[in-house]
Amino acid sequence: MSKNIFVTKSLDVLLKEASQEGEHTLKRTLSRSNLVMLGIGAIIGAGIFVLTGSAASQHAGPAVVISFIVAGVACAFAGLCYSEFASMIPIAGSAYTYAYATLGEFIAWIIGWDLILEYLFGASTVAVGWSGYVSSFLKDFGITIPEAFCSAPISYDTATHVYQATGAFINVPAMFIIGLMTWLLVVGIKESANFNNVIVVVKVIVILLFVLFGWKYIHAENWTPFIPENTGVFGEFGWSGIVRAAGIIFFAYVGFDAVSTAAQESKNPQKDMPWGILGSLVVCTIIYILVGLVMTGIVSYKELNTPAPIAVAVDAAGEGLNWLRPLIKMGAIAGLSSVILVMLMGQPRIFYAMSKDGLLPASFSKVHKKYKTPYVPTIVTGAVAMIVAGLFPIGLLGELVSIGTLLAFVIVCGGILVLRYKRPELHRPFKTPLFPLVPILGILSSLGLMYFLPGDTWIRLIVWMALGIVLYFTYGKKNSKYGQS
Ligand code: ALA
Repeated sequence: MSKNIFVTKSLDVLLKEASQEGEHTLKRTLSRSNLVMLGIGAIIGAGIFVLTGSAASQHAGPAVVISFIVAGVACAFAGLCYSEFASMIPIAGSAYTYAYATLGEFIAWIIGWDLILEYLFGASTVAVGWSGYVSSFLKDFGITIPEAFCSAPISYDTATHVYQATGAFINVPAMFIIGLMTWLLVVGIKESANFNNVIVVVKVIVILLFVLFGWKYIHAENWTPFIPENTGVFGEFGWSGIVRAAGIIFFAYVGFDAVSTAAQESKNPQKDMPWGILGSLVVCTIIYILVGLVMTGIVSYKELNTPAPIAVAVDAAGEGLNWLRPLIKMGAIAGLSSVILVMLMGQPRIFYAMSKDGLLPASFSKVHKKYKTPYVPTIVTGAVAMIVAGLFPIGLLGELVSIGTLLAFVIVCGGILVLRYKRPELHRPFKTPLFPLVPILGILSSLGLMYFLPGDTWIRLIVWMALGIVLYFTYGKKNSKYGQS
C-alpha cells in the first residue's frame, strides 16, 4: 500500500479528538488566567535577565528598546495566527497539529521535529542561564560551586568554526533543575500550573520593583544618543544594530506559543487560547520596553556587556537600591525556573499528539493512571534536555532555539493563509485581523529575523532538519495512521 506524505488530517477528526474525555485523555483544568500565567511563565526568562546586556552593549545601545518593539511586532503577527489556529483546533500539539490539518503530514512532521528545537533545547538553554544565576547567588552566601561543575565542557569558536573542550566536566546545576521540573510535570499538570503561578508572580514583582524604584536613578544623558552611530560595521549600532539586536532578543519572546500546547487541558480553549497567547505577549512586551528604558537609563549601555545586566544596573544605582540586589537574583532564578517548566511541559504534549497519529511510538501517548500526565514523553524529554543542558554553552543553544522557533512561525502563518483559502467555511472563534496582510507580514518578519542569525546556526538547523527527514521516511511514514491512500 502506498502512503501519501501530503495527506492532511481532517479537521472533523481533530475536533472529535479534542472533545474526547475519559481515562486516556488529558484533564481540562486550566482557566483563562492560568493560560496567561503560563504564557508569562514561558516568556520572561533568560532573554531579559541574560541576553539584553550584550544586545544593548554591542549592537543597539539604548535603542535596544526599539529592538524589543521590532521583535515584539514580529511575534504579534505570529501570535495572531497562532490564536486563530488554537481557537479553531483546540487540541494538544500546537503548530504540529495545525500543520497536519492544513499543509499535510510531511510538513507536520517537519514542524513537530523543528519544535524540539524550541521546547526541548529552549528548556536546556534557560537551564544554563539558571545555573549561572544560582552559582552567583550561592557565591554571595560563601558557597562556591567549582567552575568544572557549573559550566559547559564544550565551547564553539565562531571565528574558527571549531568545537573545543573547555576543561569543565559538566554543568550540574543546569541538569539538576531540568530533573526537578521533569519530576513536577510527571506528578501533575494542575500542580505544575499552581507552582508556575507562584513563581510567575515572584518574577513579575521583582521586575516591577526594578522599574518603579530604578526610575528615580535614571540619568537622561545615558539615553543620548538614543541610537548610537553605526561604527561602519553592519550590526554594530545604528539601524542595522537595532535589527541585529532584535534577532538576539527575539529569544526573550520565545514561549508565548507554549500556551497553545496546553489547549487540551484548557477549560474553554476556543475563547481562552487567544487571551492566553496575545495577553501574555502584550504584558511581556510592555515589561520589556520598561526594563530596557530603566536599564539603559541608570547605566551607560557600554557597561552592560554582562550575563547579569539588571544586577549591574541595580549596583550602578548605588546604596539606595542595595535592598534590591538579592531580590533581583531571586527573581531571575524564579523567572528562569518557570520558563524551564513551561518548555518541558510543551514538548511532551507535542510528542503526545505525534504519537496519537502514529508518527512516534505508542508509548508516547500513554497517560499516567494516577497523575493523568503523558509521563513517558515527559521523562524522555527531561532526560535528553538534561544531557544537552549539561554539555553546551548558552549562546550556541539560544541561537538554535531562535531559528527553530522562527521557522515554526513561518509555517504557522503559511498555514493560516492556506486554510483561509482551502476551508473558508470553517468556524473560526478568533480571526486574524487584516487578512492576508498579517500572516504575510508574519512570514516576512520571521524570515527577516532568521536572516540576521549567524550562518553556523543555519547549518545546525539544516543538519537537524535532515535528521528529521530521515526519521520520517524510516519510521513516521510507515507507522502513520492517516497516510494510507
Ligand atoms: N523567552 C524565554 C526566555 O527569555 C525563552 O528565557
